[in-house]
Parts: sequence; structure tokens; C-alpha cells
Amino acid sequence: MCGIVGYYGNNEKKEILIDGLRELEYRGYDSAGIALINDNLLNHFKAIGKLDNLAYRMRDFNSSGFGVAIGHTRWATHGKPTELNAHPHLGDYSFVVHNGIIENYKELKETLKSDGVEFLSQTDTETIVHLFENINNQIDNPFEAFTQTINRLEGAYATLIISEAMADTIFFAKYGSPMLIGFNDGEIFFASSDTPIIGKANEVYYLEDGEYGYIVDGEIKLFDKNGAKEFKRERLTPDKILAQKDGYRFFMEKEIYEQSSIMSDTIMGRVNDNGVDFDEIDDSILDGIDEIKICACGTSYHSALTGAYLLERSAKIRTSVEIASEFRYKDPLLSNKTLFITISQSGETADTLEALKMAKKAGLKSLSICNVDNSSIVRESDITILTRAGIEKGVASTKAFATQVMVLWLFSLYLAKKRDKISPEQLSNEIKAILHSPTSLKVDDNLHSKIHRLSKRYLHGHGFFFIGRDIFYPLALEGALKLKEISYLHAEGYPAGEMKHGPIALADSELFTIALMPQTLWYDKIKSNVEELSARDSTILAISPLDFELADDFIKTKEYDHPMLEFFEMMVVTQILALEISIRLGNDVDMPRNLAKSVTVE
Ligand code: F6R
Repeated sequence: MCGIVGYYGNNEKKEILIDGLRELEYRGYDSAGIALINDNLLNHFKAIGKLDNLAYRMRDFNSSGFGVAIGHTRWATHGKPTELNAHPHLGDYSFVVHNGIIENYKELKETLKSDGVEFLSQTDTETIVHLFENINNQIDNPFEAFTQTINRLEGAYATLIISEAMADTIFFAKYGSPMLIGFNDGEIFFASSDTPIIGKANEVYYLEDGEYGYIVDGEIKLFDKNGAKEFKRERLTPDKILAQKDGYRFFMEKEIYEQSSIMSDTIMGRVNDNGVDFDEIDDSILDGIDEIKICACGTSYHSALTGAYLLERSAKIRTSVEIASEFRYKDPLLSNKTLFITISQSGETADTLEALKMAKKAGLKSLSICNVDNSSIVRESDITILTRAGIEKGVASTKAFATQVMVLWLFSLYLAKKRDKISPEQLSNEIKAILHSPTSLKVDDNLHSKIHRLSKRYLHGHGFFFIGRDIFYPLALEGALKLKEISYLHAEGYPAGEMKHGPIALADSELFTIALMPQTLWYDKIKSNVEELSARDSTILAISPLDFELADDFIKTKEYDHPMLEFFEMMVVTQILALEISIRLGNDVDMPRNLAKSVTVE
């Protein structure tokens, strides 16, 4: 979730890069940096934290005349948010910026180290610049060295290199992470999205995966695995807000679509052939722990409930979940054998933070699952696992929830192995499913249009019941909360088996039941609960891989063999359902009434 900009031309490079990075700051602000070659002089600046720190550091620097420059704003994934880990990364005579994940960086690093190369940072990115220079030192052909470098990288990248070895060019490559090239009368721009170059460039080319190249005499030379390639520029939209949303109608929609790629970041470096590993966890935190308590609010509370099922089932550890605002005032009985987990997207939620302080005061060890490094909850916790979802702009949380659930799933397996509660076969099946989860989060265009079409039937009525069992019960709660938040329609989440104990009295054709019916967990049980509702004339929207005759509307999901994969796919369906209903009702999807993104009051 980092942001990249690059510039080739005669104008003041500092302004262009700082302005461009400002547009990308929402993608991460752990650190920022700029490298440039002006008058054949290589220069660079880095600063941790917000971009203003970098701008301040560069306040006396000016660059005039022709030059090349690259810049980066970072959302830490490999290594802490320090200045050493900030991009651009330096070799002996070149700088690199990179967005994505180099999956084989450890192997590459080992090979380069055995050639005597020294590494300064903990990042995967630094391998790119050393590999480039290592090859160039042997063949003395920077473009060929760049080509060979790109061919050796596995994973995802959008990357730019500038080098004294060829001081009047920028080398670029894209695979799996976004990058585009902007053009304006002799100037050339690179960026991770079009907002940094709107108003500066008038034409654009969106690079495809596998494309790479460099600039020769002010012209882009483009290549792919088949060799040199022609490309066609498009006119660049002058509308900035539209561009920030990458063509999606709302940030929430963009964030729903992003979940698949972001999940790879959440998993990255945390799973291997032996199971799950967290660099962040010092095992001593688990000494003497025989119970877990999770505290959170809202959507984060729903991920906590999901986590409790996973922790008890896999790690066989007693787990309870509390709403933070309740926990604070109930005079809870606390034991120092309990690991206290807080979950928060923002890391600033007042109730969750206060609950954490109470638990710490009572002597409990604490772990937070959070999306914002250096937030108050992170600073207060003994250890933190970051969810790496990137900044979430839509007030209704989507990708933050998905990544919280993933971290809890990973943590439950980590603990299961530590406690010797899982067989190698079970663990390997779980890892297989984890690695498959980005696929289960991909939004299928046909599915989206189907939900769009059927959403028109769900704009009235006297309420929605989202029902599910097991982990699909917290998902039902979350589906109902999403709908409530952005459609302002009344919706409840219920454990499916609980309907007959009261709520079924509400059933009639104007009561909409959204039934989560996975095939991998208690299908027959939930089927009979839905039949009971159908018999009372409730309108049923069934979400399931298995055909269900009594459904008034049916959304067919894929036939996964792991409940979590069904969970993620159904989560996407409920998010899109809420989105489409809200859009039809003409509501402000991203900024629903009465809500705030970070709730810092109790
Ligand atoms: C709903 C939503 C809220 C938050 C809640 C806690 O879409 O986002 O329910 O989950 O306010 O916030 P965090 O996770 O920042 O502690």
C-alpha cells in the first residue's frame, strides 16, 4: 500500500514530487523519501512519519534544469517504519523505489550477500537495487542489467530506478502493483495512480503486468517478455476526486475490491511451510497464559467474535469477547493468566483504549491487532500485530474487518501449534486455505451485477434479519451493521438457531431474511432454520453454494472446502449488497450520516 512518483524533465523536481506524494499519502505515511539526479549529482532525502517531515527536511533544497527524480511514501510491511527502511533504497550508485512484495527476496539477498553485498535495511526492496548493480557491474549495460533484474524478481512490484550508470533515464517495471506513465510536452511522470499527475500531465499510459522499460532521449521504450512494444497514450481525466477512487463510485466500493490484493499483504511473511510465524511476537508473552479475552467495538467486535470461534476450535484455548464500552464499567474479574487482546482499525477508539489501560493496570499481558502503527492502542500494548490493510477512507469498514479476521485466523494457528493442538496435516490444510483466501475475496463482475439487479427488491419492508451459525453468526452481525450504517434501514444479525426463540414473531413477507448458508459448516441446521422462516412467509435471500428451492432470491457462491473461504466470499456479498442498496437509496456511501471514522470519545 505504498505510493510511488517519478519525474523526468526540466521543472523543479522537489515541488512535483512532494505534490505528487501528497496525493498518495493516504496509501501510507510511515515514512517518505525522494532521490534525484540533477546536474549529474545524485541526492536523496528521507524522513519518517508524515510527508510534511520530508518537505521540511528539503526546505532549502532546489533543483533547476534537467534531471530525473523518484519518490515514495511508505506503509510499512517488511521492517519497522524507520529511516533506514524508508525508500528510496541506495546501492553504490543507484536508487530504487518499489511498491509490492518481492516474494523471493530472502533467496536473492542470500546470494547477493555471498557476493559481498551489504544490506542496510530490513526491506525486500533493497534487493532490487543491489541486484541491478551487481549485474551491471558484471556486464556494464544498465538496461540489460535492469531487464535481467526484473526477470529474477518473483512477487508483485511497481518499481523505479535511477542510476548514475545512466543518469538521464528512469528505469520502470510493473507486475501486480499499479503504475502509469504521464506525458506533457517533454516531461514524463510516473505514479501509482493518476491523482499525482492530474493537472501536470495531459496524456497517460497505464502499464500492464509484465511491462518494463526506460527513457531514451525523452521517449519511453517499452518492453515485455516478447521484446519491444508499441503503446497508445490516452487523454488523462482532469477530475481529481474521480481519479482518487480509481474509477470506483465510492471509496467503500474501491476498498471492497481491494480486499483480495490487500489480503496478500496481511499474509505476507507470516506463513511458511511449517505454519505461521509472527516476527512481532516474542513467545514469552504466552508464558503462563491459559485464557484469552478480546475487547473491541463495532466491526472490530465482530472480528473478535469470529476470532473466538477460531481460537477455541484450533488452539483449544478458552476465549471470551467483550464490547469495550461494557467491559470498562462492569468491574470485570481479571486474571494475569489471561492474554488481553484489543482489536481496532484506527487504534484510537476511546473505549477500547481505556479497556486496555484497565487490563494493563490489573497486570494482564496485552496484544493489539490494529491497522495504524504508532496509534494510541499500539503504543499502549505490549505487542501489536498490524493488519496492513492500508488507509480505509470509507467510514463503513470493509477491508479493515477482513484483515482483522485474517490476523485472528493466523494467530489461532500460531497458538494451536505452540500449544501442540494441531496435527501437521491439519496445519498444512489451513495454510493451503489461507493462501487461497485472496482468490475467495475477488469480486466477480457477474456476481456484482446480480446483486445490483436484485438490490431493488430490498429498499423497503420493515427490516432485515441476517442469520448464520458458528463463524457465520458474527458475519451476520457484520452484514447487518454494514447495511444499517449506509442504508439507514433496520437490520439485525442473529444466530440462525435463535430465531424461533422470539424474533420469528416478526416474520412476514416484508421481513427480509439474508441467510448465510455455507456448505462446510452446519448446512442442514441452518437450512431448517431458514425453512422455518420461509414457512412464515419471510422473504428469503439465500447466499449459498448449494441450490435452495425456498429462496425468493438466490446468490450462488463458490464450492470451497474450507469455511473461512466461504466466510470471505459471503462477506464480500453482504458488503456489496449494502453498497448497492445504499446507492439506490441515494445515500452518501462513504460518509454516512451521524458516523465518524475514528471514535475518540466514549
Ligand atoms: C463500522 C465501523 C465501526 C468501528 C468501531 C471501532 O463500519 O467501522 O463499528 O469498527 O467504531 O473502531 P476501531 O476499529 O477503529 O476501534
